[in-house]
Amino acid sequence: MAVHRIVSLVREVPDLLLARSFFVEFGLEETAPGRFSTVLGGEQLILRSGAAPRVVELSLAADDEADLESIRARLAELGITASLVNGELQVLEPATSILIRVSIGERLARDPGASAPTSIDRNDLVRREPVKPLRLGHVALGCVDVEAAKRFFVEGVGMRISDYVMGGPFMRFDTDHHNIVLLPAPMTLLHHTAWKVRDVDEIGYGGARMIENHPERHAWGLGRHAASANYFWYLKDPAGAFAEYYHSEMDELADGPFFWDPGPDSEELPVAAWASPALEDRPLVPEAMKAPILSESR
Ligand SMILES: [Fe+2]
Repeated sequence: MAVHRIVSLVREVPDLLLARSFFVEFGLEETAPGRFSTVLGGEQLILRSGAAPRVVELSLAADDEADLESIRARLAELGITASLVNGELQVLEPATSILIRVSIGERLARDPGASAPTSIDRNDLVRREPVKPLRLGHVALGCVDVEAAKRFFVEGVGMRISDYVMGGPFMRFDTDHHNIVLLPAPMTLLHHTAWKVRDVDEIGYGGARMIENHPERHAWGLGRHAASANYFWYLKDPAGAFAEYYHSEMDELADGPFFWDPGPDSEELPVAAWASPALEDRPLVPEAMKAPILSESR
């Protein structure tokens, strides 16, 4: 069969306490210090203390042992050595130096849709509980050699390309539009993590709640991406990346692995079909990428 989902992401962050409190407020459940679970995906984010922000590991799940063997063989053809350790494939992705782990894991059930209103009680609209993200849907990585990293994930891991946006391939495992995004950057960095919620209402509620006492967290949203049809709201996390609440009903409409295949003459779509105005000119450029650009203009 195939690799079908992201299991978890391990990050090092300079201010662990601050990052932990951000993701608790964001709605993840901290099951042990620095370990965070989603409603459907289980433990999906592990934060550790480190001198500088860094992505350490990205864990993926495949259907069976044959998948691990075929990934190992395909990577070998690319000249990349992956080793089987306790039934899990481990390989350092050469362009980003991120440890990619592929284990055998169950597929998640399809995401539950938004619950239809059952009454005309408008109090139902007034939420009092934090939003609880369903799962880690995608991870966007900045990297220097996008082509090399793309080869690893497409030819090695077996991902498919859905679109190119902002010069980067948006790659998927199955019926989500994208699960791993590669963006050209002057250094390896985590651009954003994206957490699926049940509907647009949860994006608006979650985003508004996150910036209520922290306006500095606001990056961009509410808006809707063009290529993936995802609704989004991006927040700045305390370790230099963005955290995105998203939802797309197109995920539910996608009926198979070919759903998102672009036509040969499909044009590159704009980043957003629509969005509320951002406060900054380049709202999705991480701080780490702004410094060299600023010094160039001096
Ligand atoms: Fe995203």
